[in-house]
Amino acid sequence: MPSQSAVVITGANGEIGHALIERLTEHSRDAVIAMDLRDLDASMARRCAQVVVGDVTDAATFERVGEQFDVRAVYHLAAMLSTSSEKQPERAQSVNVDGTLRALTFAMSRSARRGERVSFLFPSSIAAYGVPSLDEKRRAGAVDESQFNTPTTMYGVNKLYGEHLGRYYARHYRQLAQEPNPPGIDFRSIRFPGIISAFTVPSGGTSDYLPEMLHAAAQSKDYACFVRADTRIPFMAMPDAVDALLGLAAADASKLSSVVYNVTAFNPSPEEFSRFVLRAFPKASVSYAPHAKRQGIVDTWPEQLDDSLARKDWSWSPKYSLERMIEEYLLPNVRKRYA
Ligand code: SER
Repeated sequence: MPSQSAVVITGANGEIGHALIERLTEHSRDAVIAMDLRDLDASMARRCAQVVVGDVTDAATFERVGEQFDVRAVYHLAAMLSTSSEKQPERAQSVNVDGTLRALTFAMSRSARRGERVSFLFPSSIAAYGVPSLDEKRRAGAVDESQFNTPTTMYGVNKLYGEHLGRYYARHYRQLAQEPNPPGIDFRSIRFPGIISAFTVPSGGTSDYLPEMLHAAAQSKDYACFVRADTRIPFMAMPDAVDALLGLAAADASKLSSVVYNVTAFNPSPEEFSRFVLRAFPKASVSYAPHAKRQGIVDTWPEQLDDSLARKDWSWSPKYSLERMIEEYLLPNVRKRYA
């Protein structure tokens, strides 16, 4: 009988993965099992009970998770982001969809073994939305989970399907089977806005322009922003993103009226964000060189998310306003990082 309570984090080497490993290993008794295509940095690996290096599209990768672990939860973070996915849509389908199917199947089999449901946390994205025009984007303002579910990117299509797949596995799996199903999974997902970390620079996303601007400025570099100065989509600070995942994971199931929740914090344009950044790093500069196609993608993402359902069902609320994030989280940490 497996004895050590554990959580599995796929995509552990990504930005959210690193932040989540730190938080879980400091504040939880669960052993952390990290899974990624690439080996973890030694400082991260030290925190984990097991590191599985492998591809999430391969069932054998999941089979390597130690039998001694009672897997209580899976944080399935492994994904190709929106810009990378447009370069290789078929590979994106494989990582973002087949990988999710593998992770769900793994969680299902572990639920049978433990005789209880396995929590499954799935980061979805603002990319699940596809607003048809800039006019409509401005008119719509903050959108709720049910609006504009017509994504234009492969990543958005994959994430929206991942939400549906999770709902199916949690509520309707093999609904016609005669023999009893395993206890199954408790699937919960969050549609994240762009996320800004003081410690890591994202890659392969289309919301990367604000974090790229910050990290370039902190090194006194020039930054050519790949979207227009007045572009507007929502963002949040990395510690709030991790809080959201852990908050939703801990929520009382009887309070949850949905499997998909928006979360958000603020939505500065690059121009507005650059004012804070350039005040802090006066030797830096920001110019605008919009990439028409990446701009086109961001223009289909809402200018704000309505997260009232998350606020109501599981008391979600971000700690960081834009000003507080910059003063208390970003500036002190990036100054140290690039000192
Ligand atoms: N950060 C993601 C991307 O740009 C959006 O969820 O792809």
